[in-house]
Amino acid sequence: MANDLENLKNDTIAALQRASTHSEWDAVRVGTLGRSGTLTGLLRQLGSFSHEERKERGQALNRLRDELTHLIEQRGREIEALALQQRLAEETVDITQPTPTAPVGLIHPISRTIEEITTIFGAMGFHLAEGPDVESQWHNFSALNTPKHHPARTEQDTFYLPALEGEEELRVLRTQTSGVQVRTMLQEKPPIRIIAPGRTYRADHDATHSPMFHQCEGLVIEKGITLGHLKGCLTEFLRAFFNQPDLPVRFRASYFPFTEPSMEIDIGWSRETGAIGAGADWLEVLGAGMVHARVLSNCGLDPAEWQGFAFGMGIERLAMLKNGIADLRSFYESDLRWLRHYGFSALSPATLTEGL
Ligand code: PHE
Repeated sequence: MANDLENLKNDTIAALQRASTHSEWDAVRVGTLGRSGTLTGLLRQLGSFSHEERKERGQALNRLRDELTHLIEQRGREIEALALQQRLAEETVDITQPTPTAPVGLIHPISRTIEEITTIFGAMGFHLAEGPDVESQWHNFSALNTPKHHPARTEQDTFYLPALEGEEELRVLRTQTSGVQVRTMLQEKPPIRIIAPGRTYRADHDATHSPMFHQCEGLVIEKGITLGHLKGCLTEFLRAFFNQPDLPVRFRASYFPFTEPSMEIDIGWSRETGAIGAGADWLEVLGAGMVHARVLSNCGLDPAEWQGFAFGMGIERLAMLKNGIADLRSFYESDLRWLRHYGFSALSPATLTEGL
């Protein structure tokens, strides 16, 4: 082989050995076999040789081209394999490293308490009902046998909304969920068995009162419903909710304009330790009564035919008692530390009637 070809071969082999990356290798390939590459240049110059020399040199050049093409391709595969090895080594997953923990959301105690209440009443055949937060005075008071100037209207520190044009009576932020009773009786034919959890509003603010809070209303209208059904239903509910089959429950005569007779319902607890179900003290947790005949007829039902009972409870109060939460205001402060302490895992199911 002519000297210059021998040199070209050796130079190219050396350059290939030095190349360690794909781009370095590609530079050698283009510099040799490319359009302006060294070997291509030599092939182009063939024409300037004499006929004899051209034949011999042409064959040598062709062999050299095949040889170099082979060597270049081989080195290319080596470099590719090396790069892959390096990537595999760098990208190894260290399974001994701790997993980064994703932040986990929690269910707010108010939502969880609503879920628990609806689960228990759902098992007793109650349906969920809803009503608007902005309510007419008729739904919130009048239909519930609380006419204008009735003292109960002022007892419930009502928020009145600014008058709309042409409005005869100001609308209110509902002070109780009892308006949902009225809406349900007007819309549905008995038998009725509903509960209605939702927001309520009163101008009141201290450790046990918030201007916005939650209640859950209940209503049962059927033929032949008696006070006995009310007592049985609510006793069962309280024992399931507090998970105590023997929880002492006391029914105490009271007054609400929309029920007759009316009662407040207490559970046994200890004032000293705060323990539910133990001790000599009583704690009020529910308002209830037989639906007043006037409420039935205001809602288009004949009181001679239909009877029923209604009840209402404060959701914050129940949540505080069940979870040992001291201050009602903490429910709305959105303090993550508080939520992490009192919040519920989304995967833990609401209790039903465990232990009963
Ligand atoms: N609405 C009453 C309250 O807010 C509770 C209640 C509801 C009482 C239904 C009797 C019947 O205090």
